Amino acid sequence: MDGAKLAEMAVLAMRSAYSPYSGFAVGAALLTKSGRVYLGCNIENASFSPSVCAERTAFFKALSEGEREFEKIAVVGGKDGMASSYCSPCGVCRQVMAEFCPGDFIVIMRNKDGSLREKALKELLPEPFEFKIK
Ligand code: THU
Repeated sequence: MDGAKLAEMAVLAMRSAYSPYSGFAVGAALLTKSGRVYLGCNIENASFSPSVCAERTAFFKALSEGEREFEKIAVVGGKDGMASSYCSPCGVCRQVMAEFCPGDFIVIMRNKDGSLREKALKELLPEPFEFKIK
């Protein structure tokens, strides 16, 4: 599946965002190596800290279904449910991606005119935290 199609799916996912506190809706579409797509949206909370980003929603849905190999993710976000400028994944989501994805995992961002920007995870997070039990 190409990046444009995956970004379209992220726009669909954005419609489910629950973001009454920030007014910023985000959608993500995660493509697995097996060819399945998992959608995610941000889900906020009155207590703020339980809020979760769209990317982690998509990852945790996929992981909890047993998926472990991922190819790319598209992310779209903006105020009042409208896609705006490129929505770059937050640091926490980058670290979650790094747990399960190699450095060549691709993150696709789309702005409001539909232009795409692609970055490898290793560019977005060059030195992820790693913990190895001896
Ligand atoms: N958000 C995401 O869903 N993904 C990101 O990568 C950055 C931020 C959400 C969190 C919060 O609900 C809203 O955007 C504003 O920060």
